[in-house]
Amino acid sequence: MSGAPPEPPPYSLAVLGHDGTPLAAEARELLERAALVVGGARHLAALPVPDGARTVVMGDVRAALDEIDAAAGAGDGRRIVVVASGDPGFFGIVRALRERGHRPRVLPALSSVARAFARAGLPWDDALVVSAHGRELRRAVNACRAHPKVAVLTAPGAGPAELARALFPQTPRTFVVCEDLGGPRERVVTVRPAEASTRPWHDPNVVLVLDPRRAVPGERGWIAGPRPGPGGWALPDAAFGPGPVGTTAEVRALALARLGPRIGDLVWDVGAGAGEVGIECARFGAAVVAVERDEAACERVRRNVRAHRVKVAVSRGTAPAVLDHLPDPDAVFVGGGGPEVVRACASRALRSVVVVTAGPDRVRAAVDALRGEALTAHAVRIQADPALPAGPAGRDPEGAAAAFVVWGERDGADPSGRWAPVPQPEAAAVTVAALPDPDPDSVPWDDR
Ligand SMILES: C[S@@+](CC[C@H](N)C(=O)[O-])C[C@H]1O[C@@H](n2cnc3c(N)ncnc32)[C@H](O)[C@@H]1O
Repeated sequence: MSGAPPEPPPYSLAVLGHDGTPLAAEARELLERAALVVGGARHLAALPVPDGARTVVMGDVRAALDEIDAAAGAGDGRRIVVVASGDPGFFGIVRALRERGHRPRVLPALSSVARAFARAGLPWDDALVVSAHGRELRRAVNACRAHPKVAVLTAPGAGPAELARALFPQTPRTFVVCEDLGGPRERVVTVRPAEASTRPWHDPNVVLVLDPRRAVPGERGWIAGPRPGPGGWALPDAAFGPGPVGTTAEVRALALARLGPRIGDLVWDVGAGAGEVGIECARFGAAVVAVERDEAACERVRRNVRAHRVKVAVSRGTAPAVLDHLPDPDAVFVGGGGPEVVRACASRALRSVVVVTAGPDRVRAAVDALRGEALTAHAVRIQADPALPAGPAGRDPEGAAAAFVVWGERDGADPSGRWAPVPQPEAAAVTVAALPDPDPDSVPWDDR
């Protein structure tokens, strides 16, 4: 039989995870036959890279990806191997390769996060995993303020010491610092943030940031990561104990929508009253500082925080002076204070400020204060009266007063877009194995 020999595939690309243990047979074979090997210096040094292979040390990720593109584009069936730490599909190189159109074969090793929790002897299906690797440290810090069990992927300059300095002394936590897991300098130490802030640490490392009172052994759930969002919000006023709340449920609903609290955010609740707005923000996963000048009110906030089983730091003092000591917030709720407080909050807020006031004469001053700090301002008047007869504990329909909600947003503050439509890249076609047609008798319901 004659005919042209089959075309070699244009290239092959495999990504091997490395965790310090010897490569599995399949991964070793791929490496032996590689023409181009790309990886971090420590991986290339630790693995049997074949003599004939060209190596590219992955320092500058973009440059390394360009090399991979060029080798793939040569169209000569080149075998390319990328070596990366842990599970390369988890905060790793697989995403960038897919973004460039590659369809790599991935052979993962154990993720550094799985290994770190194993070293600590802790379950981690309830842990929040955040990355400060090439990203803002503040989001990781806020996640650690709000959650009892967080694993932080670090980077030089955003490591255990920097994390500890940001958390100390307001946020008591235990750090389990896991250095060079699986490598020659592996070390796992448990320290308090004060100590973590002054010690030298080796890269790479993962830090488990644990609230010892709440993280061990952790809650048993049905979903990995932090608990899903709250089952409801704009809670009844009575959820914040006896006595009136400053911001009633319906007004709070709009305030929460405009604050947009979420994991990684820091929210200030200024003039916290019973803590109702701050507590609701914490239920969404945000870190919160409640600012109150009155000690009895601070005590009420603490009581409510405990009752709702969330984390809210309480800062007793008078705004605006007390705000100087706080880290910059993503969003601020101002339930009390004049225009100078609104202005001080607006000057620090990264995303939005929401002001609730009962006095119509205060709306203009609040709007001016927000605009003075370059926020786009909006204001509405809300009157929510019970439409059914009140029971003994109900709200008096005659007494319901209108509230004014004034809010300001910083333009372009949130690239992920909270309500602006996000332009979607054209979806790349993904091939999945066809599923067999279901047997109609065995389908318990259909969702057409
Ligand atoms: C880009 S992320 C890659 C994570 C990796 N895909 C994984 O599953 O472990 C890089 C970060 O992972 C963590 N890391 C990776 N290898 C590690 C190791 N051997 N020991 C401790 N931390 C490690 C460090 O926080 C490092 O800065």
